Amino acid sequence: MCGIVGYIGKKDAYPVLIKGLKRLEYRGYDSAGVALYNNGDLLVYKKKGKVADLENFIKDQPTTGFLGIGHTRWATHGKPDDLNAHPHISGDGRIVMIHNGIIENYAVLKNALIKLGHKFTSETDTEVLIHLIEELQKRDNLPLEEALRMALTKVIGAYAVVLIDKKDPTKLIAARKQSPLVVGIGEDGDFYMASDATPIVEFTRRVVYLNDEEIAIAGIDGKLTIKTLGNKLQNLNIQELDLEIEALEKGGYDYFMLKEINEQVATIADAMRGRLSVEEGWVKLGGMEQYLNRILRADRIIFTACGTSWHAGMVAEYLIEDLARIPVEVEYASEFRYRNPIIKETDVVIAISQSGETADTLAALELAKEKGALTYGIVNVIGSSIARVTDAGSYIHAGPEIGVASTKAFTGQTTLLTLMAMYLAHLKGTISESYFHELISELSLIPEKVEKALKNSAIIESIAEKIKDSTNAIYLGRGYNFPVALEGALKLKEISYIHAEGYPAAEMKHGPIALIDENMPVIVIATNKSAYDKIVSNIQEVKARKGIVIAIVTEDDEIISGIADYTIAIPDTAEPLTPLLSVIPLQLLSYYIALKRGCNVDQPRNLAKSVTVE
Ligand code: G6P
Repeated sequence: MCGIVGYIGKKDAYPVLIKGLKRLEYRGYDSAGVALYNNGDLLVYKKKGKVADLENFIKDQPTTGFLGIGHTRWATHGKPDDLNAHPHISGDGRIVMIHNGIIENYAVLKNALIKLGHKFTSETDTEVLIHLIEELQKRDNLPLEEALRMALTKVIGAYAVVLIDKKDPTKLIAARKQSPLVVGIGEDGDFYMASDATPIVEFTRRVVYLNDEEIAIAGIDGKLTIKTLGNKLQNLNIQELDLEIEALEKGGYDYFMLKEINEQVATIADAMRGRLSVEEGWVKLGGMEQYLNRILRADRIIFTACGTSWHAGMVAEYLIEDLARIPVEVEYASEFRYRNPIIKETDVVIAISQSGETADTLAALELAKEKGALTYGIVNVIGSSIARVTDAGSYIHAGPEIGVASTKAFTGQTTLLTLMAMYLAHLKGTISESYFHELISELSLIPEKVEKALKNSAIIESIAEKIKDSTNAIYLGRGYNFPVALEGALKLKEISYIHAEGYPAAEMKHGPIALIDENMPVIVIATNKSAYDKIVSNIQEVKARKGIVIAIVTEDDEIISGIADYTIAIPDTAEPLTPLLSVIPLQLLSYYIALKRGCNVDQPRNLAKSVTVE
């Protein structure tokens, strides 16, 4: 939700900012803006639309300046337009600020400031915060960092902010609470600030992740100071980035989403690396070792997540209950945190999150910690907030996922959760040795089977052509493939704007069947061996109502291909591992449908990749 970037140093700030904004655009893309300190003045350019629109708008304007900030927005308060775009300026024109997050008590603060004579030009909560800072700065003649510190003690909500004071252009000032902020320390005493490390990595690998309620002051003299809102100086915890620039580029693909779908051959292998050995017959997750006894004795494992990560949690419920026989619950983080749930010290709460920054997931974890549960994170982005607040965790090592619709993160999470279930099952003795070894060897074969599944893209593209004008779609799956049906439907909704629902195949009879006619595509995941005949019956029920059946089957299937309108064959594997393969054609199907409908596959309307507001 909103990408923010800032620079102070010896270079020209503008090229750093605009490139940084392009890297951060996945976080929001309804408007963008930059502010530059230029010879005693502030140049502020803002535009509705994408970063490219802003760049185009600025192309003939002055852009020199060694100090600047930039923002790409996902609107919360106020529609996406030029006025509501960031940066925002104080009433006296002295301070300029960018913000990611939500100031929840903005209405009360705004009324108080209006009474003091402040006038507002936008509908944003951000403008209220900057006027509050201005008010405190003027009242007590404070340096900006002090006025910011005082203002933030009056604020309820989430923020990552970066500010410039034109009367003191020797520093770039930032603060965070619940929204992420990274400070990059350059070679020449220059500093970069951003929502994540992607705008920073080509300049420096040395970074400091700001903690909640910390303020960073980056000076033109090459000095970085970090202090708390309570004015306590903090030691600099400098970390090395492990991120390659190539991972941030499209690498010859038209869209990041297609690149990321294809990368799954490698990313699934990366999620397993060092965590399983076929030759020696073991599986382990280093992150779990320290707490193994507590996890094995847990009364319950509760998974909490949002979006696609929640679907991975659903797969985990099937895996862990089936293999390790530990009771599992899967909770939408946004519901869990507010519904006064029962959480005990004997529970393990596992958050699944690609970004590691999703506000609801973070809050759910904090609640779990408060109640004394062990917290564990399954996260992609290294150094992210969730990775830092959990007691322990495992990274999925999928590399940057930039397409807003999550693909390789889902299979990375599912691979890790499969390893977790197998590890626990083996330690508890709830599966036989021979089944354990069969699962290890089948899991190790998944990357090459994904490669084979990806070869279906021409067939899938032709099916996409046939159904691209549909207005609705139903996805059906049973057992391990029910969560995959939900994920397939979500992928289609997100990027093609076709209304789609996922259902357990047998539930179709309790409502959705009423929708089926000759215009309704019904995508059935029919790879389960355990409920094969039942799936065949479900397909017959759809056909009897003239629905268009697209069936995902295993390669040796003969029966379903005779009934379905279209079949997509994927390699066979052990049933608990089928989600890793059956999701691949669904990702490709939504990709091709969206492409053929002329949609922006990587940046679907109204969505953002990292949801740092509730
Ligand atoms: C957003 C993204 C989804 C993602 C969800 C959870 O809605 O568009 O792709 O699944 O957030 O994000 P997380 O980073 O916590 O996995």
